[in-house]
Amino acid sequence: MATHAHRALFELLDITDEDALECAALLDTPPSEPVLRAMRAMRERLGSCSSESLPADGASETEWIEALLRFAPSAHAYHVELGISPAVSAASLADVGLQLRINRRVHGRFGLDTWSWLTLHMAGNLFRLGRLQFHLVRAPQEAGQATHTAEEWVLGVHIPEDGGLSPALVDASFAEARTFFPRYFPDKPVAVATCDSWMLDPYLVSRLPGSNIASFAKRFTLDRCTDAPTDAVYFTFRQRGLQDLNKLPRDTSLQRVVLERIDDGGTWQLGHGHLAL
Ligand SMILES: CC(C)(COP(=O)(O)OP(=O)(O)OC[C@H]1O[C@@H](n2cnc3c(N)ncnc32)[C@H](O)[C@@H]1OP(=O)(O)O)[C@@H](O)C(=O)NCCC(=O)NCCS
Repeated sequence: MATHAHRALFELLDITDEDALECAALLDTPPSEPVLRAMRAMRERLGSCSSESLPADGASETEWIEALLRFAPSAHAYHVELGISPAVSAASLADVGLQLRINRRVHGRFGLDTWSWLTLHMAGNLFRLGRLQFHLVRAPQEAGQATHTAEEWVLGVHIPEDGGLSPALVDASFAEARTFFPRYFPDKPVAVATCDSWMLDPYLVSRLPGSNIASFAKRFTLDRCTDAPTDAVYFTFRQRGLQDLNKLPRDTSLQRVVLERIDDGGTWQLGHGHLAL
């Protein structure tokens, strides 16, 4: 089926080429019950500033793709109702198309193994502002802590794949976040940003001093690390799992550092950090 009937949607979500054809085929047949159920789940929490991805609830990966496509206009309309520019909304929802393209690199076919990540975008509280994405969520409460404190909200920071991460781009993105959130979410004051990423693993910072990645990581105060053996391989090589590592390229310094640590018996970590906005 032709993609022109869905051109506006595919532009909004930055869905291109073969992915557009596959998505058009999904949209050109009536939605199944699992698709409708997934859409209801997204509708129920639109605007709730939810921090969790939705569970599969019996819908397959392909059914989730269809549900995301069918629901995205509602998330866009919600953004626009808040007064957020259509361009910022589109930049935020364009992660759908990016993740479809990444899936092709990872699995060599149409699909979206990161569909649950995209259910966060559909709750209406995850925005791409310049280079970075910011997720407005409730701060995790410590046991026994009062429920309403000035520190109740935080921005979870995410780094979409999209070229280099120069300090100037990161500065600009944080500067935009500092004005965007008070303007559109005045009842949810944020003073802290958090980041949970393989890029904050102190081993990486020590092995790639002076890199954009190290400069990004050093903005955050590291709170703790947890084992994440496959993340560095996934984000560097777009390979799920640690099989056949000897076939992967060692062309860049990052590729070499990631593989050499595993060669030496080390385990990659997820660094959990925070910074004051
Ligand atoms: C984060 C990211 C934008 C950093 O890119 P960058 O600004 O080019 O990074 P740096 O300048 O610090 O790179 C240092 C070195 O690593 C290399 N490098 C960086 N990212 C790379 C990648 N994804 N694959 C291979 N090599 C990479 C650079 O080419 C450079 O190599 P060199 O020293 O041989 O010239 C990039 O790694 C990326 O897109 N990653 C995927 C998204 C991601 O990981 N998000 C976080 C999820 S928790």
